[in-house]
Amino acid sequence: MLVFAGAEEAIFCLSSVLLGPGDHAVVTWPGYQSLYEVGRAAGAEVTLHELREADGWSLDVERLIAAIRPETRLVVVNAPHNPTGMLPTPAEWARLGDACADRGIHLLADEVYRYLELDDAEPLTAGADLFERGISMGVMSKSFALAGLRIGWLATRDRDLLDRCARMKDYTTICSSTPSEILAIIGLRARDRVLARSRRIVADNLDVLDDLFRRRADRFAWVRPRGGSIGFPRLLGDEPIDAFAGRLVEAEGVLLLPGSQFGHPGNHFRIGFGRENLPAAVERLEAFLDRG
Ligand SMILES: Cc1ncc(COP(=O)(O)O)c(C=O)c1O
Repeated sequence: MLVFAGAEEAIFCLSSVLLGPGDHAVVTWPGYQSLYEVGRAAGAEVTLHELREADGWSLDVERLIAAIRPETRLVVVNAPHNPTGMLPTPAEWARLGDACADRGIHLLADEVYRYLELDDAEPLTAGADLFERGISMGVMSKSFALAGLRIGWLATRDRDLLDRCARMKDYTTICSSTPSEILAIIGLRARDRVLARSRRIVADNLDVLDDLFRRRADRFAWVRPRGGSIGFPRLLGDEPIDAFAGRLVEAEGVLLLPGSQFGHPGNHFRIGFGRENLPAAVERLEAFLDRG
């Protein structure tokens, strides 16, 4: 394991050491920007594996495997997924792990939302446990709700890869903040309590969102997330989501993030439900809708 200043530094170091000109990566999309942009900045070609609402945002493992090329060095899958809540089945996950193992490709499992699987879904086999070149990435900022610590990690059996990441880290942060590491250890030791709290918040909020989108089915299309604390609903009707979100934030101080902000076509928006004040935000959204 190697500890980083958040998952962000882990993504930066890993993508920088694994990818360069002539290399290729396949990355789930829409998604967290640096998962595909750091590789591009390093000179690699990146194929975005698009998740589609029509498929219930599910991972199309065979389509993803078909995108792998001889020069592919890395496959990146974020699950539970930001922003759709996608979570592969254990069989899909094993199939992808086998395909990467057969080809000698690294698989980065972005597991920052691990332990927020919904509806009693089990966490997937961790990336590091899948095969030799599987990599798990975790962080204290999501399921563990300790964003300010800026502590994340990579775990893999590929020691050479970790050595190369450590050499890269010599040019970024060198080492983590010790007070943050100590607070992270306290958080990890209280893991059961911390995770139970996060899971309760997410489950309660998801009930609120399910209810909202059921009652407002004329205004929104909603695919229920399978994990994580983010969903990706679509605004129905003629109004572009940017205009709707602009009116809403001006009137009610409630911010929705339109998919257009990260280049996603369609009228989707990203909605986070990891905070305890979500019901208050939903109330304001409904008041806004009622005013027309
Ligand atoms: C999927 C995903 N991966 C990685 C990160 C980076 O986490 P951090 O900002 O805690 O380093 C985020 C943050 O939003 C994320 O959503």
